[in-house]
Amino acid sequence: MPLICIASPKGGVGKTTIAANLAHVLACTGRQVLAMDFDPQNALRLHFGIPLEDGAGFLAELPKRPDWRALARHLAPGLRLLPHGRVDLHDALALEEALEREPALLATPLASILAEPGLLVIADTPPGPSRALAALVPQATLVLVALLADGASVAQLPELQSGRFLGNGTLGGLFAARLRVVVNEVEASSRLAGEVARAMAESLGQRLIGAVARDHAVAEALACQTLLADYAPGCRAAEDIAAIARILDRALPAPAAAPAAEPATLAAQWGATWGANWGAPT
Ligand SMILES: Nc1ncnc2c1ncn2[C@@H]1O[C@H](COP(=O)(O)OP(=O)(O)OP(=O)(O)O)[C@@H](O)[C@H]1O
Ligand SMILES: [Mg+2]
Repeated sequence: MPLICIASPKGGVGKTTIAANLAHVLACTGRQVLAMDFDPQNALRLHFGIPLEDGAGFLAELPKRPDWRALARHLAPGLRLLPHGRVDLHDALALEEALEREPALLATPLASILAEPGLLVIADTPPGPSRALAALVPQATLVLVALLADGASVAQLPELQSGRFLGNGTLGGLFAARLRVVVNEVEASSRLAGEVARAMAESLGQRLIGAVARDHAVAEALACQTLLADYAPGCRAAEDIAAIARILDRALPAPAAAPAAEPATLAAQWGATWGANWGAPT
C-alpha cells in the first residue's frame, strides 16, 4: 500500500510539521492513514497531542521485534500514529548499528505494515541520510522533500535532481523518479523567496508540487500540540497543506485496494493537477 516518505537533506525545514499535517488532512478525506516516526527526536507525536512523558514507540523497541499494531495509537477514525519512542544517544547509536548488521530488523515489519490493505503510510525521517531513509526509499511510492526558499536549499537541487540524495549511480537515478519537492516557510513579501521559488520551479518542473507559507499559526499549533487544520483551519499554511494533500490524494492509488500506479502514470497525474493547483511553472 502507498508509502509517502517525508525527507530532506536539510534539517529544520518542516518535515515533521508537513508529515503530521498531511497525515491528518488525508485521514480527514477518508483514507486510512498511519503516521510513522523514523526520527530519534521522537517529535512527530507532539503534533498529535501525545504527552511529553509518554516515551513509548516503535523504532525504540525495534530490537525486541515489537508488534506494530499493538504500539500504534488510534488518534481519530482512519488515523493511527506509530511514534519513534524515546531513545538516548546510546540507544540511537545501537539502533543504527543493529540496522547495519541486520537490515531485516526494519525491512520485515515495514513489509508487514505496507501489506495492510488500504493503508497509506506517511513516514517522517531524520534530516539528511539515514538508515531509515535507505530502508524506506526502495518501498516508497513518493519521496516528498521539504526545502526552504533560501540559497542553501537551491544548492541542494543538483543532489536531488540527480537522485544522489536517494542512492548512488543508476539506483539513485531510478529512485529520483519518485521525488517531489515542497518549499516551506515561504514569505510572500520576500523578494528572495520569490526568486528562489521561481528558480526551483524552473529547475524542478512538475516535481515541485507545492509551497507552504511561513505562518505563525504553525508554531502556535505545535505549542498547543494540535494539528493546524484544527487550530487555525482557514490560515494560509493550512490551506497550502490542504492543497498539497489534494495533489497527493489524486496521485495515489484510490483508497479501495487499487494496484499501485506506475511512476509514469503518477507523473501524468501530477502534470494534470499542477495546472489546477499552482498554475504553470515559469
Ligand atoms: N510553514 C511554517 N511557518 C512557520 N513556522 C514553521 C513552518 N513550518 C515549520 N515551522 C516551524 O519550524 C520549526 C521546524 O519545523 P519541523 O520540526 O517540522 O522541521 P523538521 O524538518 O522536521 O526539523 P528536523 O530536521 O529537526 O527534524 C518548528 O518550530 C515549526 O513549528
Ligand atoms: Mg523533524
